[in-house]
Amino acid sequence: MPNLEKARVISNNQVSTNLFEMEVKAPQVVPLCKPGQFIHLRVSDQYDPLLRRPLSLYDVDRQENTITLLYKVVGRGTEILSRITAGEYLDIMGPLGRAFSYPQAGQAALLVGGGVGIAPLLFLARELLNQGYQTKVLYGTQSSDDLVAMDRFRQLGAEIWPATMDGKIGYQGLVTDLLREHLSVQEKESMFIYTCGPEPMMAQVAAYASEHGLEGQVSLEENMACGVGACLGCARQLKSSDKGYVKVCKDGPVFGLRELELNP
Ligand SMILES: Cc1cc2nc3c(=O)[nH]c(=O)nc-3n(C[C@H](O)[C@H](O)[C@H](O)COP(=O)(O)OP(=O)(O)OC[C@H]3O[C@@H](n4cnc5c(N)ncnc54)[C@H](O)[C@@H]3O)c2cc1C
Ligand code: FES
Repeated sequence: MPNLEKARVISNNQVSTNLFEMEVKAPQVVPLCKPGQFIHLRVSDQYDPLLRRPLSLYDVDRQENTITLLYKVVGRGTEILSRITAGEYLDIMGPLGRAFSYPQAGQAALLVGGGVGIAPLLFLARELLNQGYQTKVLYGTQSSDDLVAMDRFRQLGAEIWPATMDGKIGYQGLVTDLLREHLSVQEKESMFIYTCGPEPMMAQVAAYASEHGLEGQVSLEENMACGVGACLGCARQLKSSDKGYVKVCKDGPVFGLRELELNP
């Protein structure tokens, strides 16, 4: 059963035009957290908006019992969230969903994140590096101002390669083009790929993995209501030929790259 907790907000800072980082103290939820899972939070004590909003575990500090979230303001819920200040309390439920699994011994990890899709990959990188996996990160954003996770990855000791459309930092172009140009032949043979970002980006990563016979996992985003498998709000076919539907909140959000067809 996921925990319900009133988490105290420690900080909530704007880190680029519409991206925010929020740290909350959640001693009941933190010990259960695994990379790839998410929390479902109420952005206000009022009944509007009624539904919780899902956000990935961007980082987890097990000593301090804190969770950091990275979120983009896209609508009413995230706009309300952006106005919450330190000392307030948030009603959170979690951790929810299926976590990432680890590569086989001897395999290296390649993390490919686009935009705010980088969120679940930071905590993943932390845990992979803790367990001794070689970890390389390809991180794409439209604007170089949005490369807000760079320092955190560097502090972990991950090798990180940015790609931006404005070209002010790193490779100029799509992170999926960087993926095609960057990896050495040896790397292509041994990498386990993790990806999160816009679905067309993940579809390109899946195509690349399939061409090179690489295994990997993807973290999907879908509109959600209950977050615990009770409402069908997040139902999705994994493949167009499938008769059944999966619930992204409970069966995912992490799926095997080969398990599903992504929309290009
Ligand atoms: C498992 C999971 C993890 C997520 N992690 C993060 C994260 O770490 N950081 C982050 O910024 N966002 C994340 N999201 C997306 C985030 O939940 C939505 O952006 C948020 O719920 C929008 O709420 P809102 O009230 O601001 O927008 P709304 O007013 O509800 O919607 C605004 C726009 O966003 C779209 N939208 C709403 N919910 C989702 C959704 N779940 N997925 C895709 N599009 C959506 C709507 O269709 C609409 O176009 C995650 C989603 C899932 C399912
Ligand atoms: S959101 Fe209700 S079943 Fe997934």
